[in-house]
Amino acid sequence: MNTSFDICTSLIRKAKNIIVLTGAGISTESGIKDFRSKTGVYKMAPEYILSLDYFYQHPVEFYQFAMENLYHPDAKPNQGHKILAKWEEQGRVQHIITQNIDGLHQKAGSRHVIEFHGTMKTASCLNCGKIYPAEEMEERIQTMHDFYICDHCETKRERNRYIKPDVVLFGDAGEWFTKKGFQSILQLIKHADCLLVLGTSLKVTPFSTFPQYRSQNDPMIIINRDETPYDSLAGTYVMHESIGKILTQIDRELS
Ligand code: OAD
Ligand code: ZN
Repeated sequence: MNTSFDICTSLIRKAKNIIVLTGAGISTESGIKDFRSKTGVYKMAPEYILSLDYFYQHPVEFYQFAMENLYHPDAKPNQGHKILAKWEEQGRVQHIITQNIDGLHQKAGSRHVIEFHGTMKTASCLNCGKIYPAEEMEERIQTMHDFYICDHCETKRERNRYIKPDVVLFGDAGEWFTKKGFQSILQLIKHADCLLVLGTSLKVTPFSTFPQYRSQNDPMIIINRDETPYDSLAGTYVMHESIGKILTQIDRELS
């Protein structure tokens, strides 16, 4: 094995409070496309399609794209998700902060998961807050012309009662986008004795700023096929490899 592998294994073995940051790259081995690599979602459509502006202007096209590309009710957790859940059970991992909206960390058994960009499991009326499960939205799309307009409340402008998937779009905010939400995430990161960053290009703010808040004396491990803007920082150990393969090998060394 190469040096970074040995170093990363020993860092993980020593750590008692690992905070994991994940992105779309941890779910590609479950058959879900990431966004920015060669086969990513943004090779088919521009980022604008996942913006709040586009949602308001073209709700039907937005839903068509979102249901095809972001909604994966049958996807199963892969080795990467499962090993993180096992490490939480063993007390190594304290929390996962994910940008993913696929729910696969929870399906694998992880309990402390912050879904920073929300979830595709539900959608909500922007006026009354009524929650629509994704299955109900699927049904509405099949059977209704104005499926994206809440029929449980009234406002003068229909646009004010659009039903939006509970995901954070560009130009949007989510439940963690409050002072209190940020503070609790930054506390977790500051107190981590190891930050493990998996499958994210670290290009989308504010999530991409989180590694800056780690304690400078503690290591950061990045496992990502492509380069990231943090790769050459001091105290950072990088493996440009597949997450499932490397986590499986590290886990084998630990046991
Ligand atoms: P990106 O697509 O930007 O980055 C995923 C990274 O994972 C890429 O650098 C890939 O090289 C790497 N990767 C893919 N599969 C891998 C594997 N099996 N092993 C190792 N590395 C792998 O995805 P994110 O950083 O998650 O927002 O994107 C951030 C946000 O941009 C998303 O949450 C999404 C998008 O707009 C929303 O949908 C709300
Ligand atoms: Zn409503």
